[in-house]
Amino acid sequence: MTIKAVVFDAYGTLFDVQSVAGLTEAAFPGHGETITQIWRLKQLEYTWLRSLMGRYEDFWSVTKASLDFTLKTLGLSATPDLLARIAAAYDALALYPEALQALKALAPTRLAIFSNGSPAMLDKLTKQAGIDALLETAISVDEIKAYKPDPRGYRLVEERLGLSRAEILFVSSNGFDIAGAKAYGLTVARIERVTPEALRAELTAGAIGPATLFKALRMQPEQLGDGADLTISALTELVPYLAARR
Ligand code: LAC
Repeated sequence: MTIKAVVFDAYGTLFDVQSVAGLTEAAFPGHGETITQIWRLKQLEYTWLRSLMGRYEDFWSVTKASLDFTLKTLGLSATPDLLARIAAAYDALALYPEALQALKALAPTRLAIFSNGSPAMLDKLTKQAGIDALLETAISVDEIKAYKPDPRGYRLVEERLGLSRAEILFVSSNGFDIAGAKAYGLTVARIERVTPEALRAELTAGAIGPATLFKALRMQPEQLGDGADLTISALTELVPYLAARR
C-alpha cells in the first residue's frame, strides 16, 4: 500500500521538550533539570488521568497544572504570572536539529501533526519554528476531548486526512503513542532519540539523575503490544523510506 501522508507527533518527536531546561534553570537556579523532567512526566500522567476520569482539560491547562505540581513538590513557589510564563516555554520549543531539513525533503508528500497539544499551542509552536507552511494541518486531540493513546484520536487522523490507516505513516518517539497508533492499525516509525546502549551507559555510570530516569521511563519502546514497523535514528531517514513506498 502506498503511503500518502506522514503524520508526526509533536512533543519529543519534532520538538525537543528538553529545550525548556534553560528557562526552568534561569527561573529556579539549581533546579532546572529536576523541574524539566518531573514536569514532563507529570504532564503526560495528567493527560492519562484526565482521560480516565472523564475530566478533559486542554493541554495548556494540563501543562500549567503539571508545572504547578512540580514546583510545589520541590517546595518552590511561583506567582500565577511566572507559572504561565514558564509554561509558555512549551510554545517555544526548539525543533530537533534535523527536523526542518527532513520536513522540507518530505514536502511533496502530505505532512501533518497529530498531537495532544491544544490548537492554540500547536499554532504558536509551528509558527515560531517556521514549519507551519510545510504542514497541511495540525490535528489536535482537543477535537475528541481525550488524550493519546485513545483510539478515537488515531481515527480522527484518518478522518481529517480522508485516508485509510494503511496510507498513513505515523512518526513518534513516545512509546505510549507508538503503542496506541499500532494498536489502532497505523504504520508507525519510531524515532529513537536515545539508543539503548547510550541509556545503559548512563544507568550504570553511578548516581542516576532526573534526565536519565526520564530517558528510561519515556524514551524506550513500551511492552504494550506490537512495536513500531521501523525504527529510525534521524527523521531524514524517512526520505528514502517514503521514496520506496510511493
Ligand atoms: C504529543 C505528545 C505525545 O505531542 O507529546 O501528542
